[in-house]
Amino acid sequence: MAQQPQSLAWSEEFTTGVAEIDEQHMILVHTLNEVAVKLTYDTSQETLEQITQDLLSYALYHFETEEELMQNFGYADSGDDAAEQHLAQHRAFSTKVLEVRESLKSGTKISTTELLDFLNQWLVHHILNTDKKLGAFIVAKRSQ
Ligand SMILES: [Fe+2]
Repeated sequence: MAQQPQSLAWSEEFTTGVAEIDEQHMILVHTLNEVAVKLTYDTSQETLEQITQDLLSYALYHFETEEELMQNFGYADSGDDAAEQHLAQHRAFSTKVLEVRESLKSGTKISTTELLDFLNQWLVHHILNTDKKLGAFIVAKRSQ
């Protein structure tokens, strides 16, 4: 029996208040849902390599957008280590996805459920805790 895709619903709670970030987050949520559906009927190595590559390139593009905003609004000078922590989380995510890709290439079987859990949980946790903090900072700066 086919497993139910692990879908992620967009929630108003995810809104950071920064339009360019929110738009990209919606695309990420949408993409992860498409990935979940696809993985219910196709878990071939080729598909997994394609999916992780596409996700990684979009994630890198998205991180760049956020990091440019951090730069433009002087987030690193905001008085705590929020910017540093934020960058570290982006790097850790990219490293993890690269590791998954390395395993795939070396022929290691990976659990698609675990992969999806990781991606969904990482995104939700990162948006709610880290991106919302950046969003509030930018919204405050923009309204000055
Ligand atoms: Fe972020």
